[in-house]
Amino acid sequence: MINDLLQRPLKDLRISVTDRCNFRCVYCMPKEIFGPDYPFLPKQELLNFQEIARLAQIFAALGVTKIRLTGGEPLLRTDLPLLLDKLASIQGIQDVALTTNGVLLPKYAADLKAAGLKRVSVSLDSLSDERFGYINGRGIGVEPVLQGIEAAARAGLKVKINMVVQKGVNDQDIVPMAKYFKDAGHTIRFIEYMDVGNSNGWNLDKVVTKQEIIDRIDRHVMPLEAVPVQYFGEVASRYRYKGTGQEIGIISAVSDAFCGTCTRARISANGSLYTCLFATEGTDLRGLLRSGVTDEVLAGRITSIWNNRDNQYSAKRGRDTNEAGGKQKIEMFYIGG
Ligand code: GTP
Ligand code: 5AD
Ligand code: SF4
Ligand code: SF4
Repeated sequence: MINDLLQRPLKDLRISVTDRCNFRCVYCMPKEIFGPDYPFLPKQELLNFQEIARLAQIFAALGVTKIRLTGGEPLLRTDLPLLLDKLASIQGIQDVALTTNGVLLPKYAADLKAAGLKRVSVSLDSLSDERFGYINGRGIGVEPVLQGIEAAARAGLKVKINMVVQKGVNDQDIVPMAKYFKDAGHTIRFIEYMDVGNSNGWNLDKVVTKQEIIDRIDRHVMPLEAVPVQYFGEVASRYRYKGTGQEIGIISAVSDAFCGTCTRARISANGSLYTCLFATEGTDLRGLLRSGVTDEVLAGRITSIWNNRDNQYSAKRGRDTNEAGGKQKIEMFYIGG
């Protein structure tokens, strides 16, 4: 196990497998910027499956127990089940998960499960076709995502739903979404809108805080009670409907940041290592991999980066501006949230 400067161990690895997506969410890849001519990464610049698996093995030896695949949209990466198969069999890896927009799950859920995937987080921001179609930038309705959720559950995957809440855009959907997924028996996590990337026009006025979300659900759905923290580094604050086993989560990266227990490293689709979701600089691991260095050299480099880590962006964020000091932050679709 290796620790950073704030005594946070390296436990989780989030790996982006593609920068492409079939959605154009307004807060992530606005269609005005990410048009048909946008230069996404060419194939040779993506880490191949051997390279990803080799890195995952090295991270596992350094203490990582949990891997999450992200994108862009990870299900757009050809033959993804082959990668899962490799990752699930690495010694020390206890949990392999995937974050997806869900529409390709009917096609892939069974193969992913068979390859060793345990669970999926499906993003869905509204139950209204109109609002969801606007948010995803492609006019895609709710039904394809609900079918994806259904397919994942049927395949035996544990499913969580992620809803990014933006004031004035979809906050009227908090209560209907809570009710719907309470009845469906899936955990839904409400995510405070964050200032990720450089083009989502974030400011504090667009955030509905954790407390407001809890109050609304407690009042309009059913009374809630807090669930004790299960492990160091849990992202969501968990609650359950009183007297039931049904949980919800709130991811409060703005009003109640969780940097103090952040155990997550991220690898972008083109193989750079980032020690924070809001980082302005990464370290090119792909170049190192392709230069033919040994596992020991790679492990040494990763260890020294982690040992020198002091990121706590969310804990230090200001009202409108941020601690990036005018530098460009890494975009969400390169490191998958
Ligand atoms: P679980 O393992 O199921 O708890 O998943 P997760 O919540 O870590 O992953 P997921 O991809 O479902 O992310 C949910 C939301 O949390 C997304 O909006 C992420 O951007 C956000 N998130 C995850 N990790 C971090 C983090 O380290 N910092 C911040 N600020 N946000 C994070
Ligand atoms: N704030 C909070 N969450 C976001 N996500 C994407 N952009 C933002 C943002 N600005 C979410 C996605 C997905 C997860 C990986 O991150 O909806 O659920
Ligand atoms: Fe795609 Fe997810 Fe970004 Fe939406 S938030 S554009 S689904 S990567
Ligand atoms: Fe970790 Fe950075 Fe998120 Fe804080 S803002 S929890 S340091 S990824």
